[in-house]
Amino acid sequence: MTKYILVSGASKGIGRAIVLHLTQAGFNVFAGVRKPEDGKALQAEAGERCTPVILDVTRAEQIEAVRALITAQVGEAGLFGLVNNAGIAVGAPMEFMPMEDLRWQFDVNFFGQVAVTQAFVELLRVGKGRIINISSIGGRVTAPILGAYSASKFALEAITTAFRLELSVWGIDAIAIEPGRIKTPIWDSGASIADGILAKLPPRAHELYGRFMEAGKRDFMTARDAGADPLIVAKVVHRALTVKNPRTRYLVGKDAKFVGHVLLRIPDRIRERFIKLV
Ligand SMILES: NC(=O)c1ccc[n+]([C@@H]2O[C@H](COP(=O)([O-])OP(=O)(O)OC[C@H]3O[C@@H](n4cnc5c(N)ncnc54)[C@H](OP(=O)(O)O)[C@@H]3O)[C@@H](O)[C@H]2O)c1
Repeated sequence: MTKYILVSGASKGIGRAIVLHLTQAGFNVFAGVRKPEDGKALQAEAGERCTPVILDVTRAEQIEAVRALITAQVGEAGLFGLVNNAGIAVGAPMEFMPMEDLRWQFDVNFFGQVAVTQAFVELLRVGKGRIINISSIGGRVTAPILGAYSASKFALEAITTAFRLELSVWGIDAIAIEPGRIKTPIWDSGASIADGILAKLPPRAHELYGRFMEAGKRDFMTARDAGADPLIVAKVVHRALTVKNPRTRYLVGKDAKFVGHVLLRIPDRIRERFIKLV
């Protein structure tokens, strides 16, 4: 029977790599994009197994339209997998983080994932499918300037566990994927989001945190240049969707494994001596 998977945030980066990898592996993938031209470009590369759908995870009417379309197409097969990948990084020091930007961070990375998951649970129930949430090593440990991003991923980790516990009765699993630094456009868009926030902060914020924000942006550029290939995340998603006994969470990349297996085992105060603002 044909196996259907929905991936959100598929226009670029990790989501795009997941769609290309899963279509090559023989799955039929609904690829959530926000712009029709991104869907066309992706389909041109991924081929007929890829069906682009317009999906902004913060827009209830788009989630409902995609749910109706997929329900009509998959029939009795249901959904084999839901990959909640859409995400943004909103960076600013917590002392001055504008509340509207903190809400935006949560709207995309957290509330959007919950809303999409709720909409597709019935189809996952039919297909005995799995929920794959693209969290981050930032969902296990927090960095300065990235507090809002980490908070959204910590929250995503919590609801991944809640969905797993509640839905296991129906054979639906929920798994968190925790990549370290991956080479994608998120670092450039994160830097421009940080610039936009910086521009509206009061002079006192610039005085106190200006150089830290600049250092944070330099870190973003290092991550962009030195990050791992998104394909490594796509391969882990494939594994998490298909192995008989998946783990509940997967660290992806050497840096994430070092943080997860080593740094998270030492006491907070000692670890945090090595995590400075600059
Ligand atoms: N890159 C890393 O180092 C890294 C590490 C750990 C975890 N992650 C996580 O991996 C996921 C993908 O990140 P990435 O690095 O591939 O980022 P990316 O290249 O910037 O791609 C982000 C994707 O999310 C989409 N998106 C943004 N806002 C959306 C919304 N409101 N509704 C639906 N889609 C939306 C974007 O669509 P548009 O093109 O339309 O904006 C794009 O397709 C994120 O959840 C991120 O937190 C990334």
